[in-house]
Amino acid sequence: MKVTVVGAGAVGATCADNIARKELCDELVMLDIKEGVTEGKAIDMMQSSVWLGSDTRITGSTNDYTKTAGSDLVVVTSGIPRKPGMSREELVGINSNIVKDVTKKILEQSPDAIFIIISNPMDSMAYLTLKANGLPKHRVIGMGGALDSSRFRYYLSQALHCSSHDLNADVIGGHGDTTMIPLTRLATYNSIPVSEILEPAALDKVAADTRVGGATLTKLIGTSAWYAPGAACAMIAESVLRDEKKMIPCSVYLEGEYGQKDICLGVPVVLGRKGWESIYQLKLDDAEKDAFAKSAEKVRSVNASLKF
Ligand code: LAC
Repeated sequence: MKVTVVGAGAVGATCADNIARKELCDELVMLDIKEGVTEGKAIDMMQSSVWLGSDTRITGSTNDYTKTAGSDLVVVTSGIPRKPGMSREELVGINSNIVKDVTKKILEQSPDAIFIIISNPMDSMAYLTLKANGLPKHRVIGMGGALDSSRFRYYLSQALHCSSHDLNADVIGGHGDTTMIPLTRLATYNSIPVSEILEPAALDKVAADTRVGGATLTKLIGTSAWYAPGAACAMIAESVLRDEKKMIPCSVYLEGEYGQKDICLGVPVVLGRKGWESIYQLKLDDAEKDAFAKSAEKVRSVNASLKF
């Protein structure tokens, strides 16, 4: 197996490091436009393997796409991250040109690659990757719901004073502060609905904190987060490369599911060797259906500015 990670900033490098630590592939290539950065980070990671024990061979490349040839899986983190006070949607102009260029060049070398898209605004960048390159829908996976669900579970674990590993709680819809939908009604603590334990006001606060989870970190750190994005990416990569069939919310192309079509939006999907393999249709109540439709409307308005 071969994996490429494009963009070796904090998010890309953490994705690469986590994928290598899990030994999901024999070969991992990091590619970036900044001279020397991927080469240096690759050597640093290889030296950390001395103690951590991974046999994945990590190399770096400054913009030489031939080094990425034959990749099974490609993680795209290219573009600029948001700064405090910015929305992810504001990045659409600059990042769409970058993502279009990167994915085209990747496909020249790896025509069968499966993509995990992380660049923001993520739902629109997943849609752009699919449409600009005419890819089969199953090969484009937007990493949003997986990250947002980790934030949802974290805030729930704080409110419940419990282990986040005992929680099952997903976020669907768009990966934006005003588009994500933490499914509080369906969240469980082991088999117990969390709504039986937490008061509605406490649950609402968990949902609100989840929605601005990324913005909260951006304000504290001064730039976008990377540890949880890197962990969510590695978990998706693992389910794909090991054909685990895990069900995880990701942004994928909808063709009528959840009442939407011609859009990439977060829904629970089964992830395996073919990419995302099926969509699970949750039975949403009216309020959740309404939130999903509104989320789609907002993502669609961002998509309207895309040029293929
Ligand atoms: C975040 C970025 C990766 O939510 O979108 O942290």
